[in-house]
Amino acid sequence: TGKFTYDPGFLSTASCNSTITYIDGDKGELLYRGYPIEQLAVNCDFLDTCHLLLYGDLPNADQRTDFHGRVTNHTMVNEQMQFFLRGFRRDAHPMAILTGLVGALSAFYHDSTDINNPQHRDIAAIRLIAKMPTLVAMAYKYTVGQPYMYPQNDLSYAGNFMRMMFATPCETYKVNPVIERALDRIFILHADHEQNASTSTVRLCGSSGTNPFAAIAAGVACLWGPSHGGANEACLNMLGDIQKMGGVAKVGEFMNQVKDKNSGVKLMGFGHRVYKNYDPRAKLMRETCHEVLGELGLQNDPLFKLAMELEKIALEDDYFVARKLYPNVDFYSGIVQRAIGIPVPLFTAIFALARTVGWIAQLNEMIADPEYKIGRPRQLFVGAAPRDVPPLSAR
Ligand code: CMC
Repeated sequence: TGKFTYDPGFLSTASCNSTITYIDGDKGELLYRGYPIEQLAVNCDFLDTCHLLLYGDLPNADQRTDFHGRVTNHTMVNEQMQFFLRGFRRDAHPMAILTGLVGALSAFYHDSTDINNPQHRDIAAIRLIAKMPTLVAMAYKYTVGQPYMYPQNDLSYAGNFMRMMFATPCETYKVNPVIERALDRIFILHADHEQNASTSTVRLCGSSGTNPFAAIAAGVACLWGPSHGGANEACLNMLGDIQKMGGVAKVGEFMNQVKDKNSGVKLMGFGHRVYKNYDPRAKLMRETCHEVLGELGLQNDPLFKLAMELEKIALEDDYFVARKLYPNVDFYSGIVQRAIGIPVPLFTAIFALARTVGWIAQLNEMIADPEYKIGRPRQLFVGAAPRDVPPLSAR
């Protein structure tokens, strides 16, 4: 005791040097490899962003064709995976399924399991980025009892995912370009966020030398929690609860519960550990949210009206203003996903799909760092002083 700094929640501890993502929480800035998120969201697609995060810069035209080709080459998963999937209950949470499926990849792709081999890591990265949409869609199709749709590689990354989710073999499916773009933007905005809980989990897990698939599965598990990636699901559930209480008329009453510290109720989709001004991702997602609601004619849907009312009231409320609590990306991404027709329990799985590239880029950076060591936090021991074990009769 006394030798170590006590920093619960890592509020002031930097765990690594990183060149990937820069956040200025006070200014509300987010940059991937130096490029502002606002420009990436408008001028690039998700696979460009993946190239940027993985290899350090945006691809030129040839690199782009090559990278897209490599990813689309790996979109199918081993047929055996469906038998593993069949072991789950049909009503299993998609994140429970996804944690299992991602971990199981290491049992199928033995040529990409050596974390210390850069080639293995690269193939693992491509495989994970390519297969995540397939796995998420399979998990969904399984829970609704529909046949899996195989990937269609002439579609965009987001378009292919939409088709695997929503098409059936008995009808022609047409990708709506507004929704395709919205989904692609959700992926870009969730692609990386420096040393958040799941990314730190991936680094810590990978630091033991485990295989990349296992490390990413650990990230999926961590992301599931409602304080992290589970917030978009929790936010939609919260809106549903307010709806049941009586909808827009009850927002004030609900806000009083949030402000009562004893209630344990939080306004989900609000607040952030780092952004204390606004979340730049939320600003972009808000735009997309309105575009999608307009495209689908859902502006007057009661749940969306409720969300907009809640946003307005919270932004003007002294409690939220004083604590610098603003809507975060998950407030709007949940609304967009629901509008698109994605079932609420799948929201976090889509976040995991998008964050996978960030996790791998961070893992690669850590392994390539000559100073990297197994992560091993210390503790301040506050338990019992040494004592003798009493005999059973004396306990
Ligand atoms: N609703 C009501 N009060 C809140 C909220 C909220 N959503 N968030 C923070 N507060 C209060 C908190 O009670 C505290 O009040 P006081 O100063 O009186 O004790 C104050 O604001 C500061 O909060 P904190 O708990 O110290 O903040 P934190 O940095 O530890 O927590 C957070 C950040 C994101 C976990 C938290 O804001 C939260 O639980 N938000 C809701 C869940 C959510 O939307 N999470 C998604 C984050 S964005 C996506 C991602 O990165 O995964």
